[in-house]
Amino acid sequence: MKLFLDSAHLGEIREAMSWGAIDGVTTNPSLVAKEGKDFFPLLQEICETVNGPVSMETTSRDAAEMVEEGRVFAKLHQHIVVKCPLTKEGLKATRQLSAQQIRVNVTLCFSPSQALLAAKAGAWCVSPFVGRLDDISADGMGLIRDIKTIYANYGFSTQILVASVRHPMHVVEAARIGADIATMPFTVLEALVKHPLTDSGLDRFLQDWERLPESAKAWKTAGATAARRARTAAVPASRRR
Ligand code: E4P
Repeated sequence: MKLFLDSAHLGEIREAMSWGAIDGVTTNPSLVAKEGKDFFPLLQEICETVNGPVSMETTSRDAAEMVEEGRVFAKLHQHIVVKCPLTKEGLKATRQLSAQQIRVNVTLCFSPSQALLAAKAGAWCVSPFVGRLDDISADGMGLIRDIKTIYANYGFSTQILVASVRHPMHVVEAARIGADIATMPFTVLEALVKHPLTDSGLDRFLQDWERLPESAKAWKTAGATAARRARTAAVPASRRR
C-alpha cells in the first residue's frame, strides 16, 4: 500500500520524505490556505520536493472551469493529479480530463454509489473520507470494504485512496482491506512510528552499553576520530579554520 502525506507544509513534507515513508502528497484548499503562501510557487515547490503524485484541488462548482484549472495544474508539473469533487459537474470534468490523459482524484466521496460513478468516469483514484463519516457515527472503513468489493467485481482500475485518516488504526485497517493508498496528516504518520516498547527497549540497550568499560568501547571513539580527520582532509587548507 502507498502512503501519502495530507499536507501543504513543506517542512512536514521534507521530513516525511527523509524517512523514506511517503510515496506522494494530497492537498486541499483548506490545507493550502493554512500555509498563507502564493499558490503556484508553493505548488511547484511541493511537486519538486515529492517523488510521486501530488493532488491539487480545483476550486469551482462548474465542470468547464474545473477542466480549465486542471489543465493549468497539469502543465505545471508531471506529478500533478487534479482533484475534482464528487458532484455531477465533477464527474463531467473527470471524464474530460481523463480523456486528455490527465490523472484525476475524485474527492469528497462518502458512498459506494458515488465511488462506482467515479470509476465509470475514468478517475485515476477515488478519495473516500473515512474520518468525516466516523465523525457522524457512520462506518468509514465499511465504505472502503464496499468500494473494494465493487471495484474487484468489475475489474475497475481506479485506485482507492483512503482519506480523512484520523489515527494509525485507520491506516492499518486500510492495509488489511487492501486499499491502494492511505493519505494522512503528519501527526498520524508520526504515530505510525511510535511504540512504547521500542522506546523503553532502546533506553535499556543504551544504558547497558554505557556500563561497558571505556576500553571496550574504544572502537567507537576511534571511528569518530578517523571520520573527523577524513572530513577535515576533504576541506581545502585555505578554507580550514
Ligand atoms: C484528502 O485528500 C483530504 O484532503 C483529507 O484527507 C481531508 O481530511 P479531513 O477530513 O481531516 O479534513
